[in-house]
Amino acid sequence: MKKNKSSKNWIINQHRDEYFKQSRSLGYRSRAAFKLLELNKKFNFLKKNSKVLDLGAAPGGWSQVASNYCTKGKVMSVDLKQMTELKNVKFLMMDFRVNESKKAIEKFFGDKISVILSDMAANTTGNKDLDCIRTNELCMEALKFSLSVLDNSGVIISKLFNGQDFEAVKKFALSNFKKVRFFKPKSSKDHSKETYIHCCGLKTL
Ligand SMILES: C[S@@+](CC[C@H](N)C(=O)[O-])C[C@H]1O[C@@H](n2cnc3c(N)ncnc32)[C@H](O)[C@@H]1O
Repeated sequence: MKKNKSSKNWIINQHRDEYFKQSRSLGYRSRAAFKLLELNKKFNFLKKNSKVLDLGAAPGGWSQVASNYCTKGKVMSVDLKQMTELKNVKFLMMDFRVNESKKAIEKFFGDKISVILSDMAANTTGNKDLDCIRTNELCMEALKFSLSVLDNSGVIISKLFNGQDFEAVKKFALSNFKKVRFFKPKSSKDHSKETYIHCCGLKTL
């Protein structure tokens, strides 16, 4: 298949990228794995017994990291796209937003979840504002879901774009969690508006 100029440039840049090279040499499926490693170094949430839900998991870099840490816990990964199986990871190929997938998640864990990760990103359309709105909607959806399934001492970490609706997401998080922090890993590209929101300590009524 013929590749256009921008996709050729993307491939060239990708191969020059240090995190991409490292991900290949360490056997990670994506350079995104380093973002989770940095997030965990900062906030220290992945434990041996953690029950982890990984939303927007394909191709599986975050799930690899989570399953390496949570050897006595449970990991479930959800994505719209197919993901090659990983040992000790239950994969659900579904749109996270539909009720059916939420029910399947609750059934799999059968109990409260300790860590919810979301690296979900909407497909890019070429319209950066629209992409930002759509990805921030996914973040909001993950936060809303977390209110009913997260353990009181649990943690949710989600990708969020610094743009439209950022403040609405922040306000929602602050009204439902005792501690809300933001962190942009070094492995997140400088030009990207991406950051990560870390929320813990559910405010219960
Ligand atoms: C940046 S990639 C995730 C990379 C992944 N964290 C890793 O380490 O390999 C974003 C993913 O979000 C998924 N996604 C977007 N919307 C989704 C939805 N509604 N439900 C489930 N997955 C979704 C996309 O299919 C895509 O695979």
